[in-house]
Amino acid sequence: METTSRTLGRSHIEVSALGFGCWAIGGEWQSADGQPLGWGKVDDDESVRAVHRALDLGVTFFDTADCYGTGHSERILGRALGKRRDDVVVATKWGNLFDERTRTADGQDDTPAHARRALTASLRRLGTEHIDLYQFHLSDADPERAAELRDTCEEFVREGLIRAYAWSTDDPARAAVFAEGEHCAAVQHALNVLQDAPGMLALCEERGLASINRSPLAMGLLAGKRRGALAAGDIRSRPPAWLPGYDADGSGADQAWLARIDALRDILTSDGRTLAQGALAWLWARSPRTVPIPGFRSVAQAEENAGALAKGPLTAGQLSEVERLLGR
Ligand SMILES: NC(=O)c1ccc[n+]([C@@H]2O[C@H](COP(=O)([O-])OP(=O)(O)OC[C@H]3O[C@@H](n4cnc5c(N)ncnc54)[C@H](OP(=O)(O)O)[C@@H]3O)[C@@H](O)[C@H]2O)c1
Repeated sequence: METTSRTLGRSHIEVSALGFGCWAIGGEWQSADGQPLGWGKVDDDESVRAVHRALDLGVTFFDTADCYGTGHSERILGRALGKRRDDVVVATKWGNLFDERTRTADGQDDTPAHARRALTASLRRLGTEHIDLYQFHLSDADPERAAELRDTCEEFVREGLIRAYAWSTDDPARAAVFAEGEHCAAVQHALNVLQDAPGMLALCEERGLASINRSPLAMGLLAGKRRGALAAGDIRSRPPAWLPGYDADGSGADQAWLARIDALRDILTSDGRTLAQGALAWLWARSPRTVPIPGFRSVAQAEENAGALAKGPLTAGQLSEVERLLGR
């Protein structure tokens, strides 16, 4: 059964059931103490070709953030979309500070004044007059401050600068604060076959929000990444505490995660799917509200991931078998 489109919560904004995550195409950037925050070097022309291929294959949803590559991801996405901007739904994020000149992250700002400055800058970099889904990037921010930002987002909607908004957080209680706003359409959170999020999915159901799934391929593990040294500029070579699945010493994938993937390999690759396509199929089967946004940096990855749409979700029987195999 084909899975083609989904609606972003209560917004009536329709998107392809698969979005493309634009973190990696931002290229290299780092924290103030030299920790890599990107995925290593990228070839901008290949990134543009990959976005074009995605468009040709029916992908109409792109997720980026102002800080990815300290503005570079937004610029490349804007360049790639060009005249086709109005054919797609663009989501970006704000809250992190950065220096474009040194490609360095530079703190956080949860004030309404910064939200307006950041929005203006994102519109300029993306070359667009509005953002379709504007997302608050600070996952653990103070809920009271977030309530103020939710009202700021409602102002942006009234001014025609954004169509809808969301919080990127893994905490259902925080997502519920944003859900109070009329034009809150979604929550962006971690979800993949190895990292379930039943509490967040229940909240999405209850509040009528879309569940936008970051790390749907477990940061490459569910696309076949194995052990082996990672490039120095790749965040997975020195994984921060919030990034599971990779060894802290830079030796690559964690053995326990690989063992769980091996246990699932046959079922995820059944019906002619690749492993990555099976991981996306699990997400569509998990809930009718999910919209996975796998990262990419080549035409080949764009083709494989977009190819999952035609193969649709896992069946209910396959979904139960996955739970049994993982002992959940
Ligand atoms: N809100 C937040 O705080 C937050 C956090 C994380 C991510 N995100 C969003 O979610 C998106 C996706 O999540 P993610 O970047 O964490 O990781 P992911 O989608 O789980 O994994 C993406 C990585 O897997 C590899 N890959 C993708 N397709 C592949 C294929 N077909 N074959 C082989 N390898 C493939 C690529 O890396 P290699 O080629 O290097 O292996 C790619 O960069 C991001 O781009 C971003 O938009 C948001």
